[in-house]
Amino acid sequence: MSQTVRGVVAGARGKPVSIEEIVVPDPGPGEALVAVAACGVCHTDLHYREGAINDDFPFLLGHEAAGKVESVGEGVTDLGPGDFVVLAWRAPCGRCRSCRRGRPWYCFDSANAAQPMTLADGTPLSPALGIGAFAEKTLVAAGQAVKVDPRARPEAAGLIGCGVMAGFGAAVNTGGVTRGDSVAVIGCGGVGNAAIAGATLAGARMVIAVDIDPRKLDWARGFGATHTVDASAGDPVEAIRELTDGFGADVVIEAVGRPETYRQAFEARDHAGTLVQVGVPDPTMTIELPLIDLFGRGGALKSSWYGDCLPSRDFPMLIDLYLSGRLDLDGFVSETIGLDDVEEAFARMGRGEVLRSVVTFA
Ligand SMILES: NC(=O)c1ccc[n+]([C@@H]2O[C@H](COP(=O)([O-])OP(=O)(O)OC[C@H]3O[C@@H](n4cnc5c(N)ncnc54)[C@H](O)[C@@H]3O)[C@@H](O)[C@H]2O)c1
Ligand SMILES: [Zn+2]
Ligand SMILES: [Zn+2]
Repeated sequence: MSQTVRGVVAGARGKPVSIEEIVVPDPGPGEALVAVAACGVCHTDLHYREGAINDDFPFLLGHEAAGKVESVGEGVTDLGPGDFVVLAWRAPCGRCRSCRRGRPWYCFDSANAAQPMTLADGTPLSPALGIGAFAEKTLVAAGQAVKVDPRARPEAAGLIGCGVMAGFGAAVNTGGVTRGDSVAVIGCGGVGNAAIAGATLAGARMVIAVDIDPRKLDWARGFGATHTVDASAGDPVEAIRELTDGFGADVVIEAVGRPETYRQAFEARDHAGTLVQVGVPDPTMTIELPLIDLFGRGGALKSSWYGDCLPSRDFPMLIDLYLSGRLDLDGFVSETIGLDDVEEAFARMGRGEVLRSVVTFA
């Protein structure tokens, strides 16, 4: 028996999203059906609807979600009805060449539900990042549903399922930020501010927030930024150098996804420093850099996919930090909205009015 619920679908490139009836199958072997309680609106959802990720329309959007397991399929033993979970878009397979080499955070065969969710006419949907949680219920691989402390409010908890984990992990896992580091974060949306929070918790001596929007810089201070740079008012590379005795930062995190900010991140690093690119570029973007600088500046140029996280290890940890008052997940929740408001939430994101709009389900 399948169930029919309402969900937010991107039907064609650049077209506004619409609410559609979604058919969600009962969980099969290794799957879990989750009643979604809250799901954040991430920039990546907008990338999907703009066709910037791939062309597999129609997409069922939404991927930053928390909810309760309703039922599980055959063979699922470590998850059951009623469990409070955050959904992950990485569920390491344990068998691919990367998992076998002890690097499951790069898993190349991450698990998703085997059965498709469909439109009422049977058209299969592509769930955003293998989740699709702007829907009252969603079907995932059981490994994607990570149990966390149920005392966390779902609006806040769901955000660690993507943006917060990506930013926090970009600083702590990929960038290896440690005590005493100077860190600059370019782009202080949900992802960048999570990187600021992560760098702060890891003991960075200085955390420089860079954005073109002064509102974002105000929020960044709340997450631990020690200095702010308004990149619309001058050259941010110069500003970062000035704040770091002329040298540049040990770790620079690019959380915008544009060639000009990548270049700024490249140039704002100290010698042998680390650049972490977490912002997702459009496939048409290119960059040109002097090869002598790539060599001569040394260090590491890294990209961070999902903050190099292991959800089963990192989600419960972030929730514990939240519940003990050391990670302000509530600070990312700018507003709660209904399922019908996702298109307007994209517009608000575009105008820079929110860190996260979060869809809640009654
Ligand atoms: N790598 C991953 O695993 C991963 C996961 C989630 C999201 N992302 C990506 O991270 C990026 C940020 O996501 P978000 O949800 O925080 O988006 P967002 O739109 O909330 O934030 C982007 C921020 O960049 C700022 N900005 C824009 N142009 C700038 C410039 N020239 N200089 C400085 N700041 C500038 C904006 O003012 C805004 O505050 C997106 O590209 C998103 O797709 C990556
Ligand atoms: Zn794997
Ligand atoms: Zn996301």
